[in-house]
Amino acid sequence: MNFARDSQPAPGSPRFIDNYGQTAGIPAPSGLEALAAGLGATQASIAPKYFYNALGSRLFEAITVLDEYYPTRTEARIFDKASGDIAQAIAASGITRPCLIDLGAGNCAKSARLIPWLQPQQYVPVDISVDFLRESAGQVQTAFPALDIVGIGMDFSQSLVLPSEVQTHDRVFFYPGSSLGNFSPEEALVFLKQISDAHQGRARGLLLGIDLVKDKAVLEAAYDDALGVTAAFNKNVLLHINDLIGADFDVRQWRHVALFNEADSRIEMYLQAECDLTVRWPGGERRFLAGERIHTENSCKYTLESMSELLENAGFSGIRYWTDPDQWFAVFWAAV
Ligand code: AVJ
Repeated sequence: MNFARDSQPAPGSPRFIDNYGQTAGIPAPSGLEALAAGLGATQASIAPKYFYNALGSRLFEAITVLDEYYPTRTEARIFDKASGDIAQAIAASGITRPCLIDLGAGNCAKSARLIPWLQPQQYVPVDISVDFLRESAGQVQTAFPALDIVGIGMDFSQSLVLPSEVQTHDRVFFYPGSSLGNFSPEEALVFLKQISDAHQGRARGLLLGIDLVKDKAVLEAAYDDALGVTAAFNKNVLLHINDLIGADFDVRQWRHVALFNEADSRIEMYLQAECDLTVRWPGGERRFLAGERIHTENSCKYTLESMSELLENAGFSGIRYWTDPDQWFAVFWAAV
């Protein structure tokens, strides 16, 4: 893989390696082809990673402070209570000065709270939203001036091979916020195996935050809040696609839909056409009838048992978890 490095980072700012935003945030041609193919498919779809342009990353931050969106707050409470125990569990796995690899780091806020407990040798925030990550990695560097930080702009859903600047020993992957839920359980298994793989992620362990199955009304409210922030977050994906492929989506013609599919244990988000319409972009077009939907996200929900089993199947052992009193969310530690 071709990694582009900052030749001379500004004084006081972390090293930064950008394998995604080299061409102003435009994914490789194969990514653009996949996008067009998704729009053209019988069940049209857009991958959830396209939510996170500059505005989308900020809208997601707003979601995390909504009353209805319990995951971020609940996870933070678990870490507030259990970080000492978690650090002990990691130490008990024989890891002393971890290399903390933060997948989908975003604003890096979760790691910033964890760093004093884990005392990592190196901190490696990874995100697809490159400019946003550059800024937040800089803030972590200000908070921890002596910490070795290597920021990486990359689409880790494509590959987990990290650049040579990333320490190879004592790697601890941090994947909080239930982001794993964007994968189907089958895809999650493949992804988790890549993390532990000796040639890819080379992890010694994984610290994972995952949302748990609960009452349908609570789940649906979390993904369809009264203020309409999640609706704006969902519709913004169309503005991002307009930028990326020169499409002419009009966000006013689309409605936000979020449903809990109990059989498949997942929230499904869609954008639903409000009228018959045609979307055009250079090299393609797609007609949508009123009521037709574009699938934009799955957010899979697990039980303590189903996630333990998935981690075991992916080759992890010594699995431990911490949860809140309502068992709405869980943090797992899984060693390799
Ligand atoms: C970042 C994927 C964990 O699934 O809860 C929030 C994204 N989508 N509201 C989630 C999201 C709508 C979020 N993840």
